[in-house]
Amino acid sequence: MNSIQNDKRIIEAKKLVLSALSDHMKEVSALKSPTSDHQALCSALEKIRGFPLYYPFIGSGFGSGPYVELADGSVKLDMISGIGPNLLGHNHLGLASALFDACLADTVMQGNLMHNVDAVQLAQKLVELSGFDHCFLSTSGAMACENALKIIFQHYAPATRILAFEHCFIGRTIALSQITDKPSYRIGVPELLSVDYIPFYNHKRPVESTQETLSALKTFTDRYPGKHACLCIELIQGEGGIVEGSSEYFHAIIEFLRSKNIGVYVDEVQTFGRTESLFAHHLYGLKGKVDAISIGKVSQTCATLFSKEVAPKPGLLSQTFTGSTAGIRAALWFLEHLDELNLYGHEGAIARLSKYFHEALNKLNKKIPGSAVGPYGRGALLAFTPFDWDLKKVTSFLKRLYANGVIAFQAGSHTARVRMLPPFGAMEEKHIDEVMAIVEKTIREEMA
Ligand SMILES: Cc1ncc(COP(=O)(O)O)c(C=O)c1O
Repeated sequence: MNSIQNDKRIIEAKKLVLSALSDHMKEVSALKSPTSDHQALCSALEKIRGFPLYYPFIGSGFGSGPYVELADGSVKLDMISGIGPNLLGHNHLGLASALFDACLADTVMQGNLMHNVDAVQLAQKLVELSGFDHCFLSTSGAMACENALKIIFQHYAPATRILAFEHCFIGRTIALSQITDKPSYRIGVPELLSVDYIPFYNHKRPVESTQETLSALKTFTDRYPGKHACLCIELIQGEGGIVEGSSEYFHAIIEFLRSKNIGVYVDEVQTFGRTESLFAHHLYGLKGKVDAISIGKVSQTCATLFSKEVAPKPGLLSQTFTGSTAGIRAALWFLEHLDELNLYGHEGAIARLSKYFHEALNKLNKKIPGSAVGPYGRGALLAFTPFDWDLKKVTSFLKRLYANGVIAFQAGSHTARVRMLPPFGAMEEKHIDEVMAIVEKTIREEMA
């Protein structure tokens, strides 16, 4: 096999590139005000795509850990990372070394008839770490979810209905927007799937809410016997407001589903890599108890993982592109350096920084009563409810927070919350202090 990676010139070039990158990162490791106006660029983008931007965010393409540089020269603290993929922050040197290797590869993209060795290694690593038998890579979270559903439908045929939780989010393709529980995401989209919604867990009423879910499941399965292919589970609802289930809850539901021969599918696109466990379903004791999962975002290359019992017949899955070589190399680098990164487990950075963040929000809530109710969530998925503010007021808060230097986002519509997906792989306690000082200042400004 070609040994370009061992060529002395390449080794030297890589060293030089990474050392230059590391030096330039120092220039963006603190908040900065804009040095120019990039409003014209934002307006051009809005005009081209035909609808407004949520924030006037256009990146310069550079950053450093939790700090991101914008095209106007400003530097902000990025607590949402383009809705979650950058757990290791901006310009991570380990990922940069993987991207350097990827740029020497023969193709930009890989696919079903064009796998390189690194794609095989990534699939093997995901199978080994997850405990599933099979892995199929794909280019987006939505595609990984679609593939999971197709696998499940084929196995549980002729069942064609889906069970899903109220307020769930699974994506916006024509099929997935039928399941995502947001009427505004389906305007004008033809109905292709029959979905029955059941209520989700409520930590304030664990026993009652479990009974309510089981009772709704019974109602629908009695009404449509043998017609449900699976239940789609988001273990921690993201868009729904960062609402977490519990181990006992999921076990009770799965026991019921299995008694009716209904499949179990977990959408881990948002939870993968963000809790104290690489796979969130392991955290709830569900290893080996589900048919398939989809992963994305933090994984850089998305994938569907499934058991041999539900493996599809040839022809069901294929894609010209299953991932970019850069995405595959980055994913592989991440999974091969888990020990060194020390993110997971009770002593890992995610558990430690999450606890610190929750404590800081609790302190703020004491200092300004009602300002940070909750906090909700787990690991690097967290949210709080400021007062009884509705979505309009939370949006106003978020836009002011953005102007003050912190990028966050909303979650939930029935209860409007501020959501953060912090890049704990690139953060220390001092960054949380900096974020919290800006959150407090913004709360006070919005209250004035
Ligand atoms: C739980 C969940 N499933 C699926 C998706 C869709 O992933 P993508 O946007 O990569 O297509 C998302 C995206 O936010 C998600 O949060």
